[in-house]
Amino acid sequence: MTGRLHVSGAKNSALKLMAASLLAPGTTRLHNVPQIQDVRTMSEVLEFLGAVIDFQDGTLTIDTTKVESHVAPYDLVQRMRASIQIMGPLLNRFGRARVAMPGGCNLGPRKIDFHLRGLERLGATVRADHGFVEVSAERLRGTSIFLDYPSVGATENLLMAAVTATGTTVIDNAAREPEILDLGKFLISMGARIEGAGTSRIEIHGVDELSPTEHTVMPDRIEAGTYLVAAAVTGGDLEVEGITPHILQMFLAKLRAVGVHVQENGRKIRVWGSPGDYTGTDVATLPYPGFPTDLQAPMMVLLSLAQGSSIVTENVFENRFGFVDELIRLGADIKVAGHHALVNGGRSFTGAIVRCPDLRAGAALVLAGMMGEGVTEVRDIFHIDRGYEGFTEKLRSVGADLERVDAEGEPLDRPLVETPSPS
Ligand code: EPZ
Repeated sequence: MTGRLHVSGAKNSALKLMAASLLAPGTTRLHNVPQIQDVRTMSEVLEFLGAVIDFQDGTLTIDTTKVESHVAPYDLVQRMRASIQIMGPLLNRFGRARVAMPGGCNLGPRKIDFHLRGLERLGATVRADHGFVEVSAERLRGTSIFLDYPSVGATENLLMAAVTATGTTVIDNAAREPEILDLGKFLISMGARIEGAGTSRIEIHGVDELSPTEHTVMPDRIEAGTYLVAAAVTGGDLEVEGITPHILQMFLAKLRAVGVHVQENGRKIRVWGSPGDYTGTDVATLPYPGFPTDLQAPMMVLLSLAQGSSIVTENVFENRFGFVDELIRLGADIKVAGHHALVNGGRSFTGAIVRCPDLRAGAALVLAGMMGEGVTEVRDIFHIDRGYEGFTEKLRSVGADLERVDAEGEPLDRPLVETPSPS
C-alpha cells in the first residue's frame, strides 16, 4: 500500500453534532460529514422527530424548526446506540424526552446509568416503563456532577442538557476525547458558554437560548489509525492527511514501539516499515488520551505479525475480544483470559471466510485479509459501512487488492478481500 489518503469527518463527532442541532429551532449546517450508515440512521432519527434533512457533498443541512416529537422509538435506538444522545437536547428543548432503552450490543451490556444519574442531578425526573426511559423537567438547574467513569456518551449528553440550565454546571471526571472538544466548539458557536470541554472538568454557564449554527466536523482519528495499521501490516508507505497527529499520540507511540516508522508533519502522518522487523509490545486501552479501544482490534492484527508476544488489555468495553476467534481462523495465535489477550506474534495469515462481529473488528479482519496469503472473504460488512466512508475505495486507491461484492450484506458469492498467493 503506497500513496496518500485523506481522512473523512469523524463519525463519533458528527453523530453528536447532529443530535445537538435539536437544541435550537432553525437550520444548522454541518460540513465534512462522512457518508456512512450511522449518519443515515441518525438522520432517520431526526426526521422521525420532525426535522428536515438534506445531505449534499459532505454538507448536512438540518432544519429543526418543525421538530415536535420528543420520542425516539425502539427500532431506531436498537439500530444505533448513539441515538440516546438526543436525550439531553430534547429534554432541553421540550422539557422531556422519551427514548427506548438501548439494551446490550456486541461490545457488552453498555449501560446508561451515568447519563440518567447526571440528568437527575440537573433536576430531571427519570422514569422507566415499557422498555422506554422518560426524562422530564420544567427547567434544568445547574449543579455539580462527578462521573464515576469518564464516559464519552454521558459527558456529551450532560453537556447538551446543561447548556440552557439555570446557573452553572460543573462536570468532573468528564471524558476528554477530542470529539467532546468538537461538540463544545459547536455548542459555543450556538451561543453556549462552556469552559474546559476536552478536559476532565467542564464548566457550563447556562444561557437562555441557543441559535442554529454552521460547523466543520473534526477529522476521524479512528479511521486514520485504521489506515495507518493497514500500511504497517502490508509493509507499505502511506501518508494520511487532514489530521493533527497529537490526537493519536498514544497510538503512534505504540506503532513506534512495534518498529513502524512514523513521521508527523503538520496535518499529515506518514508510516512505513518492514513487517519482518516488528516486535511485540503491550497495549492497554483507556479513555483518551490513553490507547483508544476503537483501535484495539486493528492493533491485534499488527501484533500478530510482530515477533514475540504481547499482552493486550481491554479496559473500556467488557466484550471487545469477540473477533479474536475470527482472527484465529485467519492464522492468529491469541489466548483470551477475561479482559486480557495474549498475542503470540510472528504469525502469517492465510485466507478464509470470516464474519464481522462489529465495526472496528470488521475493519481489522479486512486488514488481516490484506496481509494474508490467498483469498479472504469478510462477511457482514454492513458493520464496516456504519462507520467507514468509502472503505474499499480508499484502500484500493493506495494499492490494496480488495473488492466489495454485495452492498446489501446478502450472501456473498465473491470475496471482499483478495491477495495474490506468493509465487
Ligand atoms: C463512545 O461510546 C463511542 N461511540 C465508541 O465508539 C467508543 O468506543 C467509546 O466512546 C469509547 O471511546 C460513539 O461515540 C457513538 P462510553 P460510548 O460511554 O459513549 C460504560 C465505535 O466503534 N458505561 O465512554 O457508548 C460502558 O458500558 C464506537 O466507533 C456505563 O457503565 O462509550 C463502557 O464499558 C464503539 N454506564 C464504558 O463505560 C454509562 O452510563 C465506556 O463507555 C455509560 C457508559
